[in-house]
Amino acid sequence: MEAPIEAYQAGQFTKLALPDENGGWVRRAYSIVNNPKQAEGHQQMEFLIIADDSGELSPRLQSLNSGDEIFVGNEAAGFMTTDEVPQNVDDLWLLSTGTAIGPFISILETPSLGARFKNIVLVHAVRTESELIYQERIQSLLNRYEKRFHYVPIISREHVTGTLCGRIPSLLLNGELEHNAKCQLSTTHSFLYICGNPNMVKDTSKALQELGFNKHLRRKIGQFSSENYW
Ligand SMILES: Cc1cc2nc3c(=O)[nH]c(=O)nc-3n(C[C@H](O)[C@H](O)[C@H](O)COP(=O)(O)OP(=O)(O)OC[C@H]3O[C@@H](n4cnc5c(N)ncnc54)[C@H](O)[C@@H]3O)c2cc1C
Ligand SMILES: NC(=O)c1ccc[n+]([C@@H]2O[C@H](COP(=O)([O-])OP(=O)(O)OC[C@H]3O[C@@H](n4cnc5c(N)ncnc54)[C@H](OP(=O)(O)O)[C@@H]3O)[C@@H](O)[C@H]2O)c1
Repeated sequence: MEAPIEAYQAGQFTKLALPDENGGWVRRAYSIVNNPKQAEGHQQMEFLIIADDSGELSPRLQSLNSGDEIFVGNEAAGFMTTDEVPQNVDDLWLLSTGTAIGPFISILETPSLGARFKNIVLVHAVRTESELIYQERIQSLLNRYEKRFHYVPIISREHVTGTLCGRIPSLLLNGELEHNAKCQLSTTHSFLYICGNPNMVKDTSKALQELGFNKHLRRKIGQFSSENYW
């Protein structure tokens, strides 16, 4: 998608909209998947969108064709960016469900990211193996960051070799997630972003609190922050 929008930061979202029947607009938030520093420039945007058949906008987005017009918000928004991560952090953990891997791909493709963090963990939790998207991009990230990048796919409704089975909160509590990521969580040098299904965000926040982590606030430094998709 191409639109003359203002510069944005990796991890942010914008609004997409189509006209409704009453002369208004139906608008929803969508994370931008590509990194703003890509060679094509920031005005060439990519989105990862799942259609919910009962929804108002997403089925209409899915039936758009190349060349169709769509409203794109001029200014992106959102605080799930590396600028918001406290400076003392060594290890960045990115926990996602479904389409919420999108903003993390944008962050991971930031040219200077490797210079900032010692370890970067990408967790992608989906129902079935077929939803483990972006395998080629993840392979390039593994080549680029080598041993510092840890990709942990989780599948909840199938058993697949090489992936974890279950849900993020219980895999955090029983230590399997850390073991599989080959990276230890620490309240002094880890920071986690949680994004996607609001129930996952809630349960994961609770699990992290049980493990001694605190929600990050601008007025009080903590170790995790989140973005709900609905
Ligand atoms: C900050 C932010 C960023 C977002 N980024 C994305 C994105 O990059 N890609 C994307 O597909 N959606 C994203 N969403 C969700 C998106 O805004 C819409 O809610 C979604 O496309 C459904 O819109 P709708 O009008 O069709 O249905 P709605 O009436 O708005 O929603 C219907 C139902 O669809 C389900 N649903 C909504 N979003 C998702 C989703 N992403 N995955 C699975 N189920 C969902 C929920 O059960 C919801 O109740 C984001 C939401 C927020 C708040
Ligand atoms: N993906 C599909 O095949 C499919 C098909 C039809 C409709 N939909 C619609 O699409 C929407 C979402 O589908 P989705 O697959 O993208 O996302 P999702 O339902 O958010 O599932 C993504 C992952 O999040 C996990 N999860 C759900 N609740 C959780 C919680 N409280 N704590 C931790 N993990 C949790 C799921 O585990 P569990 O599997 O254990 O729930 C799954 O592994 C739903 O509204 C659904 O009706 C999806």
